Amino acid sequence: MKNILILGGTTEARQLAGKLARREDFSVTLSLAGRTENPIAQGVPVRAGGFGGADGLAAYLGQEHIHLLIDATHPYAARISVNAAEAARQAGVPIIALRRPGWEPVAGDRWTLVDSVVEAAQALGTAPRRVFLAIGRQEAGVFEAAPQHRYLIRSVDPVEPELAVPDAAYLLARGPFPEADERALLEKYGIDAVVSKNSGGDATYGKIAAARALGIEMIIVRRPPLPDIRSAETVDQLAAIVDHFFEPVAERGV
Ligand SMILES: NC(=O)c1ccc[n+]([C@@H]2O[C@H](COP(=O)([O-])OP(=O)(O)OC[C@H]3O[C@@H](n4cnc5c(N)ncnc54)[C@H](OP(=O)(O)O)[C@@H]3O)[C@@H](O)[C@H]2O)c1
Repeated sequence: MKNILILGGTTEARQLAGKLARREDFSVTLSLAGRTENPIAQGVPVRAGGFGGADGLAAYLGQEHIHLLIDATHPYAARISVNAAEAARQAGVPIIALRRPGWEPVAGDRWTLVDSVVEAAQALGTAPRRVFLAIGRQEAGVFEAAPQHRYLIRSVDPVEPELAVPDAAYLLARGPFPEADERALLEKYGIDAVVSKNSGGDATYGKIAAARALGIEMIIVRRPPLPDIRSAETVDQLAAIVDHFFEPVAERGV
C-alpha cells in the first residue's frame, strides 16, 4: 500500500484525490487548512488544520509513513507550498505539485497588474468607484485603506468583522461562476472595477470574460513565486505521473 498525502483546498485537489483513491494499492488522505466553515464533501479521508510549519509537516510525513506528497493547494497559498517543499526535503519524501496555469489577457481585456492586494487597493485611485472584490475574505480588510469606494465583496464564508467602510455589500457564494451570471452581477451593481487574483482554471474565469464584454477594468494581483519543483498542470497529467511513479523500474520500459 502506498500512502499519498494531498495538500488541498482546491477543486483539483478533490478531483485528484477521488481519482487516485480508486486505486486499491493507494491510501489517499486529503489535507485542508480548516478555514472554510462547511467544506464540501471531499470523498476521501480528510485531515484538517495546520501542521505547525515545515518541521511539523516533515514530522507528519514520517509518522504517517507517507510515500508521496502532492501539493495541490491554491496558487496564492504560497506559505504552505514553501513549507511542503521544505518538509519533503527534510523527510526525504518525493513531492509533486499540481499547478494550474494562470489566465493570459486577450484582446479587449483591460488588466492592471499589481503585486499584492495592498497595491490593488492603491491602484483603484482616489476617485470613488464601484468595486467588485473577488479575492476571498482573508485579505478583504486591506480595502479599508480606500474607504471612498463602494464595494461588493464575494466570499465563501462571511467577512468578519465587516469592513469599516461606508458602503459595502456582501455576497456569499461558492463557484463555479458562469459568465452570464457574472455579467448580470456586474451590471446589477454598476461595477466599474473588478479586483481578482489570477487563479486560472474555468470555474472562476466567468468574471474575466464578463468584464471584457462590458469594458470594465480588472485589477489583477500577480501570482506569488512558488518553489521550483516537479509539477503538472492538470489532474489527469498528475494522475499519470503518480501511476508511473510507483511502477517497478523494470515495468517502466525506461
Ligand atoms: N489563498 C487563496 O487565494 C486560496 C484560494 C482558494 C483556496 N485556498 C486554499 O485555502 C487554504 C489556505 O490558504 P492560505 O492562502 O491561507 O494558505 P497559506 O498562507 O499558504 O498557508 C497558511 C498556513 O495554513 C496552513 N495550511 C494551508 N493549506 C493547508 C493545507 N492544505 N493543509 C494543512 N494546512 C494548511 C499551514 O499552516 P502550518 O504552517 O501550521 O502547517 C500554512 O502555513 C489552502 O489550502 C489553499 O489551497 C486558498
